Amino acid sequence: MKKIPTFIFDLDGVITNTENYHFQAWKDICEILKFDLNSELNEELKGVSRDKCLKKILDWAGLDLSIKRFNELLDKKNNIYLDKISKINSSNIINGVSDFIINAKKHNHSIALYSTSKNANLILNKLNISSYFDAIVDGNSIKISKPDPEGFELAAKLTQSAHENCVVFEDSEAGIIAGNKLKMMTIGIGKSKKLSIANKVYKEFNEIKFQDFQRC
Ligand code: BG6
Ligand code: MG
Repeated sequence: MKKIPTFIFDLDGVITNTENYHFQAWKDICEILKFDLNSELNEELKGVSRDKCLKKILDWAGLDLSIKRFNELLDKKNNIYLDKISKINSSNIINGVSDFIINAKKHNHSIALYSTSKNANLILNKLNISSYFDAIVDGNSIKISKPDPEGFELAAKLTQSAHENCVVFEDSEAGIIAGNKLKMMTIGIGKSKKLSIANKVYKEFNEIKFQDFQRC
């Protein structure tokens, strides 16, 4: 077990701004359902798996759909999303992320990814940063998505890290809840009030300095 912190990154909204594309794609689906999805409600979709997101939306809209229609809308949402991310590349990495990771690797820290997204590997490849990670956990590796801690547990296991030695970077309330459950150090990134349950909150990744974590 390493004594220095292992850094576990979320993907959408932490490494790259794809979170907004998820929101736009869900808004298109909500238009079909005649439901108005606002950005406050969208905070509750962040970090949550695709099917759980649609279940939440149907709940808010008071709608019930056949399994066939449900699956059609899931596919449609994903196709809209895939179209939106088709052109992303390394210029879409959020400022400060690459520098932080390069610095952390230089100092021998393990780096892991835990994203609920089933598209995580596709995006990492487009951003050209797959090789940064000692472990990658995505929506295909887990049974239950955030706020359940399953994915963080797996990321810690794969990097042979004690939970209390892991630092989690998250933009979603669901992700912070999951990290807190395991007593990992949780760092919220963003402006949402929901992130106040994190151990520390930064408005933007760029404000985080690798040196701040060298003694934790
Ligand atoms: C998370 C996003 O990373 O992945 C959520 O925060 C999204 O908004 C979830 O619903 C699932 O993504 P995908 O790509 O599998 O539909
Ligand atoms: Mg996120």
